[in-house]
Amino acid sequence: MRIALSTGGGDAPGLNAVIRGAVLSAVHRGWSAYGIQRGFGGLLGQDRVVALGPDEVRGITHVGGTILGTTNRSSPFKWPVPQPDGTVAEVDRSDELIAAFQAHGFDALIMIGGDGSLNIAQRLYEKGLAVVGVPKTIDNDVGGTQQTFGFDTAVATATDALDKVHSTAESHGRVMVVEVMGRYAGWIALNAGISGSADVILMPEIPFDMDSVCRKIQEREERGRQFSVVVVAEGAAPRGGARALKGPAAAGGAMERLGGMGEQVAREIERRTGKETRSLTLGHLQRGGSPTTFDRLLALRFGAAAVRCVANKVFGVMVAYQPPGVGHVPLKDVLAKPKLVPLDSDTVSTARDLGVCLGD
Ligand code: F6P
Repeated sequence: MRIALSTGGGDAPGLNAVIRGAVLSAVHRGWSAYGIQRGFGGLLGQDRVVALGPDEVRGITHVGGTILGTTNRSSPFKWPVPQPDGTVAEVDRSDELIAAFQAHGFDALIMIGGDGSLNIAQRLYEKGLAVVGVPKTIDNDVGGTQQTFGFDTAVATATDALDKVHSTAESHGRVMVVEVMGRYAGWIALNAGISGSADVILMPEIPFDMDSVCRKIQEREERGRQFSVVVVAEGAAPRGGARALKGPAAAGGAMERLGGMGEQVAREIERRTGKETRSLTLGHLQRGGSPTTFDRLLALRFGAAAVRCVANKVFGVMVAYQPPGVGHVPLKDVLAKPKLVPLDSDTVSTARDLGVCLGD
């Protein structure tokens, strides 16, 4: 058996651990494993396909990023091709990709990615490729799995930042607004916000009302708390208003770039309350660094489970964390819509019980 691995979309802590888990599991069975570099660049662009064995995956479990490289602009169905007039056309090169895959003699593809890459995986499966998906994203917004790897590390990073922001907020008696990632879901904001003792958490699932946010800050002031910490998910939006965008979707299957809501909220808090307010955006810090123990273990389990799927000839599926085990679910079932924070979850209730303002 010859299996190929690909990492697509934004990186997330734990990618290397999945690669190691899959490669060692394949080698253990006497198979060979290959890595397609930079999304599908290794098959369609100028990057390469590299052989992966125990030496190549030694000592990478704890290392952030991906040894294969990644991109969120390499959809084979929307391959970006620069045109003479300076524009970029999107070309369907999926047949070419499948031909390249067959020319390498690969029997199966393990595709490690978020919703965009898993969508590509499903479409390739529909075209006859033997594909197994592995859910990766710090956003935790992929359905069918209780958790994606990378999320726990991002939450730990954001929580650590909130702890640090607290002391400076208190010293200066300021409001500190911290924008976190998460795309259209509030998992990072909610989990880090509660763990990092935020006073206000704004997330995409609950359109927020600035009156409610400022009331919370003023109530704290009346109780002698002259500082407040506000967490804003990048995808949050005011009631009746729009999300903040940094840029439109680029060619190649990329998504629109979110960002800037933290700064907008900070300006509005300062204008309405008169309190000195600062904002910061954690950005890609949340995607970097060494994966937590939870993410390492989950990623290794995902890699090994993906190879078990290949061994059992189960394709068109995504491995999934279904505590206490790791199982698999049909790819087509998980892609219908992003997994958002359920508003009736105990985590949301916990935030409310702790007196956190959720903007409503
Ligand atoms: O999906 C992961 C993620 O980090 C999102 O939280 C964020 O909106 C996006 O990727 C940022 O993408 P880029 O790396 O293209 O800036």
